[in-house]
Amino acid sequence: MRKKRKREHVENYLKTSFQGDTLLSDVYLEHNALPELNFSEIDTKTKFLGKTIDYPILINAMTGGTEFSQEINKELSLLAKEFNIAMAVGSETIAVCEDEGCRESFKIVRETVGEESLVFANLSGRASLEDVEKALDLIQGDAIQLHLNVAQEIAMEEGDRDFSGVYSNIENIVKNIDKPVIIKEVGFGISKEVAQKLYDIGIRYIDISGSGGTNFIEIENLRNMNIDLSELYSWGIPTALSLIKCKELPEDLKIISSGGIKNSKDIVKSLVLGAEVVGISGELLSYLVHGGYDNAKNYLDGLVYKIKMLMILMGKKNIEELKASDYKIIGDLKDLI
Ligand SMILES: Cc1cc2nc3c(=O)[nH]c(=O)nc-3n(C[C@H](O)[C@H](O)[C@H](O)COP(=O)(O)O)c2cc1C
Repeated sequence: MRKKRKREHVENYLKTSFQGDTLLSDVYLEHNALPELNFSEIDTKTKFLGKTIDYPILINAMTGGTEFSQEINKELSLLAKEFNIAMAVGSETIAVCEDEGCRESFKIVRETVGEESLVFANLSGRASLEDVEKALDLIQGDAIQLHLNVAQEIAMEEGDRDFSGVYSNIENIVKNIDKPVIIKEVGFGISKEVAQKLYDIGIRYIDISGSGGTNFIEIENLRNMNIDLSELYSWGIPTALSLIKCKELPEDLKIISSGGIKNSKDIVKSLVLGAEVVGISGELLSYLVHGGYDNAKNYLDGLVYKIKMLMILMGKKNIEELKASDYKIIGDLKDLI
């Protein structure tokens, strides 16, 4: 059942049509006509969780557990290696709890990128401590992502309906695991209040995964024809809003921006708003599935070139300078903060 669902998630993601809005277009960055910089010296390297990556980009959690997803994970990890960027595997529940035979589809990621690369394990916020240890072990993860996916589960006919006890479970995990714990959404955003609650139990890494991109209510609705959930497709906290609000918490809470990240402006704006690293899932998957490895590589080549273009156009020679840039908030985003 879980294997079938994994495949349907990828297939249905490609069929979704709802256009969300991250509200990142309401972040205005100023042009610098006199940057006094040499393009060849623009430095996009950044350090996260003790490792240096060449660009502040994360290929975010998507898949694993089937032959089909093994192929996807292989290609994604080749891209992660080629660009020296971070990568998260999809939920490892299937490998740690149910089917030992599908472990290779996850292990292939660490085997491909090598031990120097930044790789995150992934499980649900309901996972046991023992399973978190297994998930980390399987891919020698540098951190564990624990996903919160209430909207997805509730849209899924066979999904969970009891969401109690997740908070104390996360508290138990963060207190007993010696690797960093990243709490992530799957495309509906994290509010300041939820971030504060997580901060209070010791969480120092949050992937906001806001709305505006992949829409799991629609993906699940394509698997469940008994109910029309379309009026809920716009539900969620837009990525820009979630990021700005979570950044109001103390500095030692490190934020990954994701949800609807498609282009260089989304990435640069996320960094200016305070993200350490920026995650991409659906957009990269589309390039990969529709045109193969070379198509996805061309997309990333263009993306990193355009990030450098924007850095010179803002007069910023490295990521630290970029993150300290001024910005203005306009439009709907201004009304919401
Ligand atoms: C096909 C697909 C499968 C996903 N599976 C997982 C998963 O197993 N675990 C998880 O934490 N997030 C999962 N996600 C959510 C992404 O990590 C991300 O939070 C979300 O898609 C928003 O980013 P995007 O708009 O760039 O796709 C999945 C996304 C896609 C498109």
